[in-house]
Amino acid sequence: MSEITKRIVIQDKDAPKEEELREAAAILARGDLVAFPTETVYGLGANALDEEAAKKIYAAKGRPSDNPLIAHVARIEDVSDLVREIPEAGKKLMDAFWPGPLTLIFPKKDIVPYGTTGGLNTVAVRMPSHPTARLLIALAGVPIAAPSANTSGKPSPTTADHVMQDMNGKIDMVVDGGEVEIGVESTIVDVSSKIPTLLRPGAITMEMLEEVLGEVAVDPVILGPVKEGVRPKAPGMKYRHYAPKAEMTLVEEASVEEMVKKIQELAKEKQREGFRVGILCTDESLQAYPSDMVVKSIGKREREETVAHNLFAVLREFDDAGVDCIFSESFPKDHMGQAIMNRLSKAAGYHIVRG
Ligand code: TXA
Ligand code: MG
Repeated sequence: MSEITKRIVIQDKDAPKEEELREAAAILARGDLVAFPTETVYGLGANALDEEAAKKIYAAKGRPSDNPLIAHVARIEDVSDLVREIPEAGKKLMDAFWPGPLTLIFPKKDIVPYGTTGGLNTVAVRMPSHPTARLLIALAGVPIAAPSANTSGKPSPTTADHVMQDMNGKIDMVVDGGEVEIGVESTIVDVSSKIPTLLRPGAITMEMLEEVLGEVAVDPVILGPVKEGVRPKAPGMKYRHYAPKAEMTLVEEASVEEMVKKIQELAKEKQREGFRVGILCTDESLQAYPSDMVVKSIGKREREETVAHNLFAVLREFDDAGVDCIFSESFPKDHMGQAIMNRLSKAAGYHIVRG
């Protein structure tokens, strides 16, 4: 691998050209690493059937090897090569939401190495909707294992610049398809269990899953800290993720007004103690906070997809701003808010102040 990561810019991200992706596909096919955009976040891709390639992903990310990877496919037909069976719930969800931001857990076939699944007998599969991701996977001719393309523990990358911050010199190429659309990682549903179970919330919300399936169970680790001795079903959920460098506190109150007031108080106190304070707020409340603090809006409270879209980028901006502590507004935990609060709670290391 070269010292410097090559960057290929896709001219029209809705219609990538084969020639733009041929070199990237060849790198993947020979067992090396390429970061590429998906509709959720940037992924760090490698051949999912090649254990040695999977090892390179873990090395580049500094990721614990018991944390399994998602295999990305370009076509629905490719799923049956990887999985022993597609349960009824899986079929329904694939029909309703693929291609798109939904990952499904199936019993794996022998062809999928344990190096990809972190030793598990199941495999996570996703068919992304992003045209560049789809064309790249198709050209590579193999399923592509792709975790988010961040250093383990850092916020997931939503631009090629974020990928370069973490991966420059560690991977062969980044395919630059501009900013991603959704901004949080895919929803994960285990359809290998008797009752389909939500393991990680995302843009395909609990409400949307229930509409298709009726009953859906929820892995309790989604909103709370992982209790000692409890094993989250998605091994990745146990790690402190997405974390900015500063100590972060998430503030929950009965109303938005009370929440804003509480953050104002807590922030002033910290500032008096001499700390450089950051505030993560929304467009609606931006004016309510003192201008001598680092105040950043994450999006419109009234349009939660904008909050999801900006979430990881704003966490990275706080790192760049060098704040000592961050106070963050919170969101209702239904619809897209479930995914937003899951990521913010983890970013805060579950340090949550409730009124
Ligand atoms: O949106 C996404 O899913 C992005 C893009 C690149 O597609 N990828 C992504 O991958 O978020 P990663 O590796 O950062 O997160 C994968 C999650 C981890 O929490 C992992 O533990 C879980 O999926 N996972 C993977 N295989 C699993 C399995 N067999 N059983 C349970 N959980 C699994
Ligand atoms: Mg990740």
